[in-house]
Formats: sequence, structure tokens, C-alpha cells
Amino acid sequence: MSTPMRTDEHWANYNSRQAARPIRESCQRVLALAGPGAGRTAVDLGCGAGRETRAFLDAGWRVLALDGEPGTEARLLRTIGGRHAALTIKTSRFQDLYDLPPADLVHAGYSLPFQTRAEFDRVWTLIRSVLRPGGRVAVDLFGDRDSWAGDPNLTFLTEPEVRALFDGLTIERWEVEDEPGRAFSGPKHWHVFHVVAQRR
Ligand SMILES: C[S@@+](CC[C@H](N)C(=O)[O-])C[C@H]1O[C@@H](n2cnc3c(N)ncnc32)[C@H](O)[C@@H]1O
Repeated sequence: MSTPMRTDEHWANYNSRQAARPIRESCQRVLALAGPGAGRTAVDLGCGAGRETRAFLDAGWRVLALDGEPGTEARLLRTIGGRHAALTIKTSRFQDLYDLPPADLVHAGYSLPFQTRAEFDRVWTLIRSVLRPGGRVAVDLFGDRDSWAGDPNLTFLTEPEVRALFDGLTIERWEVEDEPGRAFSGPKHWHVFHVVAQRR
């Protein structure tokens, strides 16, 4: 199956239609496990419309929200309802991301697969390097049976490859979706690993 062109316009269009959906399950799970933020730092990578960014702020986290789509800041401010003292917004592509603050939580909802494998590996190393002891990662990663697999601009992983990413971390949520469904661009087969893990 061919994959849709993922231009800035595509993501702007996608994100403009996310305002009313429920908070992603990965975000809900990690919030339940981590408890109130109490001023701890969360990073929301590929934050999109900011639904989950908002949930982290509401739970007392300081948040760095990052996304490559140029309209991110304006969209996020609409979702949040204006500036928020605990929120930092950064517009950057993963390809240009070379540093992150020390973090107690890194959430990446359906975003990290949208880069090449080489970039994914570099960004994942960065994420692991900034995760504080006790900190958690909550991610949705595409598997090799996904109907978009084969697109060299995206990253698709086998189960052993996904497990290897979490070496040394304690896996607290491991759910695999492997079924037909719908994407923003139309019907497709989803093969997605939903994982929450904690650094001991
Ligand atoms: C499928 S959306 C998910 C957005 C949000 N996390 C959610 O769950 O609705 C993917 C997001 O990643 C962003 N994105 C895609 N490729 C990116 C890249 N290479 N670097 C940074 N952000 C990227 C898009 O702009 C979009 O907001």
C-alpha cells in the first residue's frame, strides 16, 4: 500500500482535526503510572494539536512540547487557551533535534516512526540519555507488519527490535495492535507497539 505524502500541509490538516478526540491511551496510562507531575518535566515529542500536552499541564507537569509542523505554536496556544507558565513550545523536526532537557517523562504519540531509521536511532539514543532515574517513556511505534512498512522515510520495527529499545528499562505497558483499521488518510492495517517503560 502506498503511503500518503507527509508534508507540513498534511500535518497541519491532520492536527487541525484532533481538537475533540479523547486523550491518547499512552498518555492516560503514563499519567496513571507516574502520578501528579508536581513540577517534574515531561517532553511531548510530535505533540501535534497538543491534546496530550494539555493533559500533562493539567496534571501538574512542566512540559516541553515539540513538533516539526510550522503552525505548532499557534495551534498549541489555541488548545491550551493561551500562554502557560509551565509550557515551552519548540518547533523542530526530529532531524534537527540534538538536545533535550533532563526529563521525568517522554511521551511520543504516533510520532517517532515519521523519520528514517537512522534518525530514529539517533533520537532514541537522545531520549534514553535524558531520561532521569525513575523517569518513564510512553510511545507508539510502528511494526513491520504495518501496511505502510517499506516506506524508507518511516521507521518500522520487528518485535525483537522494539524490545531491544527498552533494554535496561522496566516495561509497564506492552500492547500490540495488529489489525485492519483506519488512518487519517484512509483504511490501512495497523501494526503498532504501545509501550510504557520506566528507568529504574
Ligand atoms: C500522527 S501525528 C501525532 C500527533 C499527536 N501526538 C497525536 O497523537 O495526535 C504525528 C505528529 O508528528 C509530527 N511530525 C511528523 N514527522 C515529524 C518529524 N520528522 N519531526 C518532528 N515532528 C514530526 C507531525 O507534525 C504530527 O504533529
